[in-house]
Amino acid sequence: MSEGIARAVAHFAGLMREQLERVERMKKRPRGPAFAEVSRLVIGVCPGDGIGPVITRETGRVLGVLLSSELASGRVELRVIDGLTLENRLAHGKAIPDPVLAALKECHVILKAPTTTPEKGGPYPNIESANVAMRRELDLFANVRPVKVPQLGIDWVFFRENTEGAYILGSKGLMVSDELGVDFTAVTRPGCERIIRMAFEHARAHGVDRVLGVTKANVIKTTDGLFLEVGAHIAREFPGIAWESWYADIVAAKLIDPKRRSTFRVFVLPNLYGDILSDEAAEVQGGVGTAGSANIGTEHAMFEAIHGSAPRMVQEGRGAYADPSSLMRAAVMMLGHVGMSEASARLEKALDLCGQFERRLVITGRADGATAEDFADYVIATLASGDLDVRWQAAVDAAAGSPGKGE
Ligand code: IPM
Ligand code: MG
Repeated sequence: MSEGIARAVAHFAGLMREQLERVERMKKRPRGPAFAEVSRLVIGVCPGDGIGPVITRETGRVLGVLLSSELASGRVELRVIDGLTLENRLAHGKAIPDPVLAALKECHVILKAPTTTPEKGGPYPNIESANVAMRRELDLFANVRPVKVPQLGIDWVFFRENTEGAYILGSKGLMVSDELGVDFTAVTRPGCERIIRMAFEHARAHGVDRVLGVTKANVIKTTDGLFLEVGAHIAREFPGIAWESWYADIVAAKLIDPKRRSTFRVFVLPNLYGDILSDEAAEVQGGVGTAGSANIGTEHAMFEAIHGSAPRMVQEGRGAYADPSSLMRAAVMMLGHVGMSEASARLEKALDLCGQFERRLVITGRADGATAEDFADYVIATLASGDLDVRWQAAVDAAAGSPGKGE
């Protein structure tokens, strides 16, 4: 056996041991708090890198108004956790420095802005993505990404598996020789079960009668095949809800097919397909800057924008024009998750009005559009207006009657 193969075999054996241990840990995960019993809810806020601090500041201002009485009474605390910057991560040589991870674990939920992920071959050392590390360390297995365009009859939710697939070993591939590079992907039965069950539960709770399992099982036979097999099995627990197997490439096409796309509601996907298709879907809604996401585990939960830190925008001096609605949408999901459903609904309605229906200000990401600060002021004024519900209902009714509906 050549030295390269012997090294690869030893490396592979180590990875497989780690993965089998992970399966056992997954089965024993503790449960998090019942939010109704928490007397002081601690929301950890991570400003991140690039446009992160801009969109965090504006989201924080909106939350300050929305939750003013809870913040004043101490029922809710917004706790800024600063150490998740690229500089600090590089200084520690770690995706999430230990003190930062400990601080995150002390929060009930986390609101996180994008963090920069160094790319292999770039100017920075090859540390792992802070997102990927946080999802793994806190076992945030479900990445829930809603996309809604009421005018087009679009109401999608993507349940992206968030802890395994192409990501779990994404930083652990190896060069077997100078000319042969190998990466690994790993999927587990309990990992598939928990995300697929969550998608079915969502479908049942919302009266949806089909769940689309999206893979490339025609090519990636073992891991995508396992995902499909588990889906068919879980579907038996949900009579009346169909399990449909779709391939990721045709889903990518149909998301922009005006005749088909409004028939879709719930998707469940392995990690990498979920990453790619949810960005495409967000573009249909108005861009990745408009989309928030929830990362949910049994014990912890983290809420974030679906996009990255946009270093190019900052380099080009356009940081102030970043769209903060992604992180504000993440805050909507966070408030819903902790049981503050009224505040969540109010913020969602204000964002629908400001970002989709009325659009008195438009964000373009450039100086010809509004700034993040202008947009936050608009959201705050909308929240404060006495007729939020009436305006929102009128806008929804108008959209339902518009010619774009169901295209
Ligand atoms: C996302 C992002 C991340 C991912 C990056 C920043 C590692 O694209 O949340 O979708 O690939 O998951
Ligand atoms: Mg992504």
